[in-house]
Amino acid sequence: YQIMRPQNEPVLSFLPGSDEKKSLKRRIAEMKASAIEIPLIINGKEIRTGRTGTCIIPHNKSHVLATCHMAGPRETEIAIRAALEAGKKWEATPWDHRLAVFLRAAELISGPWRDTLNAATMLGQSKTVYEADADAACELADFFRFNSYFVRQIMEEQPQSVPGVLNRMEYRPLEGFVFAVTPFNFTAIGGNLPSSPAMAGNTVIWKPSSTAIYSNYYVMKLLTEAGLPDGVINFVPGAGSEVGPVVMGHPMLAGIHFTGSTATFNTMWRTVAQNLENYRNYPRIVGETGGKDFLFAHVSADTDALIHAIISGSFSYQGQKCSATSRVYIPESIWPDVKKGLLREMADLKTGDVEDFTNYMGAVIDQAAFDSVRSYIDFARASPEADIIAGGGCSDETGFFIEPTVIVTTDPHFKTMQEEIFGPVVTVYIYKDDACEKALELCESTSGYALTGAIFARDRIAIAKIEKRLTYSAGNLYINDKTTGAFVGLQPFGGSRASGTNEKAGSKHNLSRWMSPRTIKENF
Ligand code: SER
Repeated sequence: YQIMRPQNEPVLSFLPGSDEKKSLKRRIAEMKASAIEIPLIINGKEIRTGRTGTCIIPHNKSHVLATCHMAGPRETEIAIRAALEAGKKWEATPWDHRLAVFLRAAELISGPWRDTLNAATMLGQSKTVYEADADAACELADFFRFNSYFVRQIMEEQPQSVPGVLNRMEYRPLEGFVFAVTPFNFTAIGGNLPSSPAMAGNTVIWKPSSTAIYSNYYVMKLLTEAGLPDGVINFVPGAGSEVGPVVMGHPMLAGIHFTGSTATFNTMWRTVAQNLENYRNYPRIVGETGGKDFLFAHVSADTDALIHAIISGSFSYQGQKCSATSRVYIPESIWPDVKKGLLREMADLKTGDVEDFTNYMGAVIDQAAFDSVRSYIDFARASPEADIIAGGGCSDETGFFIEPTVIVTTDPHFKTMQEEIFGPVVTVYIYKDDACEKALELCESTSGYALTGAIFARDRIAIAKIEKRLTYSAGNLYINDKTTGAFVGLQPFGGSRASGTNEKAGSKHNLSRWMSPRTIKENF
């Protein structure tokens, strides 16, 4: 068979009374009715360590969804041995057979597994139905289908042969195993980071985020049902401090595929540096980390489109996206209209239990996230340079709820213009219409991050100039669109500076990092 360029999986609409809504609601009720026990899965075997944590519903924090077993150094060592052993057979399996597992998984997501993944993501991570479906169903299926297509493209890329000389490239997996460390905020990233190295023939130790074990466990079960052989991906939830040193101290560590905080990624680099002499190979380190993403409005911006982009970019999934809009630059002359529109539209945004499909926002992921976001709001409230013009309310009584919040500051270097908050908080700085150049410089250099950015303008000459003026401040630049929601295969995703190594998830560039090619020249 030939793997063709796929189409992105379409989202479902979950209209009132629709079969898709009824079926998802049934699955949510089933999953809430009984808590499950989540084991480690090493070499296809379930392992219960007896050291357990719990998975709760962030918008209903007393509800326990699961008890999960956590790995320590011993289980981590067992998992590494299993991965290295399984690697021998997996590497020898023809690449199109390897990809068939992931193509099958994508079909299962479009079909019988969709409700389970969506319900798990809504309950375990407090995503609304629309955010969950775009993530756990569409983006995950897209990763599996597009990455399969990209692997095929690479495999078929061969050097030229000349009369008397036959040249070949053999796209082997890396020598050793890969460590995938995944975040809570996208179930799709949870599935993608271990899967893309596995598609290229590697075997993997997968450490999911401790706050997304519930949905990630179902992704692991899905892959098993799709035919993933034992030991190819080993599911090893546990504390980073327990699992990390064992994995990164191992001589056969061949790669790290990471999404998470900049601080954790920095620690991983340091650990690798300390172990450098022990490794057989230089580990490939691919990471996507934080963001402090800007939206720049020009005087010619369409204010309705701008208001929509600020709301959606800043508040969808409670702002818990590395791509979330979190600093906005608006010219003085259009600010009164934008402010009026923002306040009008935000009055309709409902925050609450995401099992009610009409809520626009759920809860933030856990108590630590709640406390951290609240501290930024409290800081702004106490500062003479800042004014909270919308939201600001927080309650952790039943769940970790934070109102969508807009801060206006007179200081372009105010703390909330510089630091990643990872919550539903956006800060606006109003610039004088004739100080466009200065505002662009602020976009470019205010934070150390460089992930996403957006320009809003109708004036075509201005768009061309601004696009050129901005340089490395965004790895994904949007024109007249919000800063979030890159599609796999359409907008390859990633940034540089403190935002990561910019290998573009959902592209050929990322897949090639999991390969160690051998070039063969043959005289004949
Ligand atoms: N890919 C996501 C987005 O574009 C973030 O990880 O919003």
